[in-house]
Amino acid sequence: MSIVEFKLDPWSHVMIKDYEKLFQYFGIRPFNEVINKLKSVAEPHYLMRRGIIFGHRDFDRVVDAIIRGERFAVVTGLMPSGKMHFGHKMVIDQVIYYQRLDAEIYLVIADIEAYNVRRISRDDAINIALRDYVANYIALGLDKKNLHLYFQSNYKIKYYRLIQLIPRKLTLAELRAAYGEDIDVGKVISVITQIADILHPQLKDLGGFKHIVVPVGPDQDPHIRLTRDVAQRFNDELGLTPPSSTYHRFMSGLDGGKMSSSRPESYISLNEDPATAVQKLMKAFTGGRATAEEQKKLGGEPEKCVVYEFYAYHLIPDDEELRRAYLDCKLGNVLCGECKLKAAELLTKYLIQHNDRYEKALPKVSEYVEMPDF
Ligand code: TRP
Ligand code: SF4
Repeated sequence: MSIVEFKLDPWSHVMIKDYEKLFQYFGIRPFNEVINKLKSVAEPHYLMRRGIIFGHRDFDRVVDAIIRGERFAVVTGLMPSGKMHFGHKMVIDQVIYYQRLDAEIYLVIADIEAYNVRRISRDDAINIALRDYVANYIALGLDKKNLHLYFQSNYKIKYYRLIQLIPRKLTLAELRAAYGEDIDVGKVISVITQIADILHPQLKDLGGFKHIVVPVGPDQDPHIRLTRDVAQRFNDELGLTPPSSTYHRFMSGLDGGKMSSSRPESYISLNEDPATAVQKLMKAFTGGRATAEEQKKLGGEPEKCVVYEFYAYHLIPDDEELRRAYLDCKLGNVLCGECKLKAAELLTKYLIQHNDRYEKALPKVSEYVEMPDF
């Protein structure tokens, strides 16, 4: 496959099978080249230690800033469309990690993108954002400390001024090259808005220069590349500098494809009732063999297994315990039925606990974010 065929489209639902290509074609760097440096100042997140966060651009600059005790900020966001599932949770887990390292947090509710690209109504976007996203963020442990949590449609005037200035630094040819010939006006507005999301914390009146890291999935990389170019082009005029970024692997869907909020069979939501969640999990594709005999002989393939992903990405925080689960599978000590039962038990426990925190979080939503009036 050539670079021409291998495109990243932030709005399609393709699965990325070959993460190596992202290094080769797009210049994303392997995360393991910066993890030791990070270790010198902070314990890396388990998603980093486990290679789930696999790539970066200029993350070493952020680590240097942490080492020198300089200010740094995190910018990321999610679209309020559909339920918040375990794939989305990874983004917020990272935000909380950086918040505990004293970062300033800019967390975007991409309601304008949801409206223009996903055609979600204003009412739906607002309700979904508050009920399915913000309340879950709080339940996951997001704090009010150093937090700017905002709707793209309801924010500071200087952010909107930046949105109005960005077009001068972009050409239609560039947008077509990045997003395809058929890019439409709604996508253009979403891209420009996202560029402003990432760059506005560096505006002079909003605190001025600071190191920025954007933790995202690799589908967002076209936005990141464009944002880095735009920052450069504003360097003289507004003093903006290119942000850093990190990239995490997507979770696989339970039904074989990508985990996607448009297919409820593919995901488990953070607010799923435990019985339904367990049902979905028990039906999931695994890395098991055709027969029990074969599996005892050859072992399973955890690297191809969604159940194992649930362990590694969410359910087993302890590295040693995860290693045991990996080896038990690999050596054929455990069969998928038994393994799924253990995952179901951990998942049920998690969901019940999360639901408790969610119920307590719901009434606090308005303390965290200001709601647009239409
Ligand atoms: N486009 C992102 C998504 O599809 C949401 C988003 C909006 C975002 N602004 C951002 C992500 C800024 C990272 C940084 O979910
Ligand atoms: Fe997946 Fe567990 Fe089966 Fe291994 S034993 S393939 S981890 S379900």
